[in-house]
Amino acid sequence: MIGVLVSGEGSNLQALLDDGLPVAAVASSRAGVRALERAAGAEIPARAFELGEHPSRETRDTAMAAWLREHGVDLVVCAGYMHLLTPAFLDCFPQRIVNVHPSLLPAFPGAHAVQDALAAGVPVTGVTVHVVDEGLDTGPVLEQQPVEVEPRATLEQRIHAAEHALLPKVVRELVAASGWSLPAPGRRGRYGNTVPERPAVGAARVVRGAGLRPAGTDDGGWRRCAR
Ligand code: GRF
Repeated sequence: MIGVLVSGEGSNLQALLDDGLPVAAVASSRAGVRALERAAGAEIPARAFELGEHPSRETRDTAMAAWLREHGVDLVVCAGYMHLLTPAFLDCFPQRIVNVHPSLLPAFPGAHAVQDALAAGVPVTGVTVHVVDEGLDTGPVLEQQPVEVEPRATLEQRIHAAEHALLPKVVRELVAASGWSLPAPGRRGRYGNTVPERPAVGAARVVRGAGLRPAGTDDGGWRRCAR
């Protein structure tokens, strides 16, 4: 089952829900955000884990991982999650955490990837889905989708559309590789969002296999974190 980490609007969470993926729980770094409302609307357990409510980042991450595990989560998707994850969290889901990022990594990591691409004057930027490690957007790339920068006025919108197509596709492939059977991809979600028929530019391409392991093949972390 999938756990989704969010921090704000939650449009990528919505794309996963609209695709019919089995989201079991949603955890947010901030209370009161739209993403939590989307989870509640879909009747999915959702909870905020704000740093201010915990003595340290590690204890927050430990509590968040334990809560996700209680809800049967074995694949974590960072969908607009704006905090770095500590080993306290990473070790609970070894090689089973992915992130969507609005650039063609390793170009433009960090929180301002779209603005950084515009400032750099590159003709093409894009979207990356990658495995999460301790670094800032540094984990192995799973798949990327290029997006042309021009017209600049609509770049952010086109980046988001590319994210909303690529993230569910890659997550669906990871889930299928785990041997779960899934309903067919949704065409129209409960909020009226439509999953794009075509990516914004060209076809998505696999950049390099990250070697995500099926659930259970590396149980060191699981043993440490199972309750
Ligand atoms: C997305 O562009 C994501 O890649 C970035 O922050 C944005 C979050 O969007 N890290 P949302 O919360 O999924 O709508």
